Amino acid sequence: MSEKKQAGGLQGVVAGQSAISTVGVGGIGLNYRGYDINDLAYKCTFEEVTYLLLKGHLPTQQQLDELKTLIWSKRYIPCKLKQILETLPKESHPMDIMRTVTSILGILEPETKSGQEYDISIRLISIFGPALLYWYHYSNSGIKINENTGKDSIAENFLKLYHLKSEIDPLVIKTFDVSLILYAEHDFAASTFAARVTVSTLSDFYSGITTAIGTLRGPLHGGANEAAMQYLEPLRSIPQADQFLNSRYQSKQLIMGFGHRVYKKEDPRSPIIKDFSLQLSKTQNGDPTLLAVSQHIEKRMVEEKKIYPNLDFYSASAYRQCGVPTPMFTAIFVISRMTGWGGHIIEQRSNNKLMRPVSDYTGPAKKQFVPIEMRNKANL
Ligand code: SDX
Repeated sequence: MSEKKQAGGLQGVVAGQSAISTVGVGGIGLNYRGYDINDLAYKCTFEEVTYLLLKGHLPTQQQLDELKTLIWSKRYIPCKLKQILETLPKESHPMDIMRTVTSILGILEPETKSGQEYDISIRLISIFGPALLYWYHYSNSGIKINENTGKDSIAENFLKLYHLKSEIDPLVIKTFDVSLILYAEHDFAASTFAARVTVSTLSDFYSGITTAIGTLRGPLHGGANEAAMQYLEPLRSIPQADQFLNSRYQSKQLIMGFGHRVYKKEDPRSPIIKDFSLQLSKTQNGDPTLLAVSQHIEKRMVEEKKIYPNLDFYSASAYRQCGVPTPMFTAIFVISRMTGWGGHIIEQRSNNKLMRPVSDYTGPAKKQFVPIEMRNKANL
């Protein structure tokens, strides 16, 4: 048994090699396959980034066109899946719907041979939004939506299916698309690492993704964007924000959407999503009060605690101003991170080794066995 007490949570542990993204590596910021997140967010679409993460390089125009055509063709929801979605109660959490959709597709369209990772990833990325929204509209109002919205991007398809509108504000589409780029990949984040552990046993692709979804659900990880919106919702003035923060400081409770295991200063994704959330706040359907309160909380947390917002904090106000309901925030994270999870599963399988660490044993020394007829409290 080693003397040194570990920080816990595998903090600082290098758990393997990966060539997909840099997170806080030696001050070079966040890069996906070498490309800076600012270039990707401001100059690419989510479909280009999807191709980059799954194939390892940015697409040519022809490759991108082929990917878009594939996405449009993979949106359809099988009848059996629709029948199951129609049985799920409206009180279900969207993350449970995403996990269920993955499991059902793993049964209806199983992984039967090697080399299917790209196709299954695109299938899931394409169907996740339509399936979630099929369940949402059916369980809430009995409407059976047509999941096919033509040659729309993943972002526009989701927004049209949620709002049941044929026209969406271009800035809302752009903000949503940028959020998908920002959420797409982040090295050995808990959910990604969980997926890699699962497939390292030679388990199937869908099992890896259901593991990842279950892991992402927690408020210390993907669930933080929903948790942040929940506390921001009632704060409609700076004094109310101060009262909230002071009580959280006093009770030593976490403020969700802040802090990061790797970034101990700014999360490079936060200023990007904040930029779009601020742009939205200046439009007709924007919420300038939400942004003013958010910026005030950020200012105090940075100045008083030296704790910075992570991607989830301003994603909350961005999604709210896109009109998306809070319980769907983490489900959107799933659609996006499916690209990173797919890339990591491909990478893990390309040079696989069963992942099986050891613990630092802290239990009792060897004991003498006592048969049950002689056992009493004294000799247990
Ligand atoms: C994501 O890994 C990834 O890359 C994840 C992600 C991705 O893209 O996949 O980036 C997405 O999950 C972002 C993180 C979302 N989670 C939250 O916003 C939840 C709130 N954040 C905290 O739970 C925390 O910051 C963690 C879990 C994210 C990271 O914490 P660590 O590295 O385990 O550090 P810690 O909890 O030990 O905190 C160090 C100190 C503690 O104070 P002390 O006990 O030393 O006095 O900082 C404090 C913490 O209490 N602290 C916070 C805080 N975050 C850290 N205090 C109040 N509010 C916070 N949010």
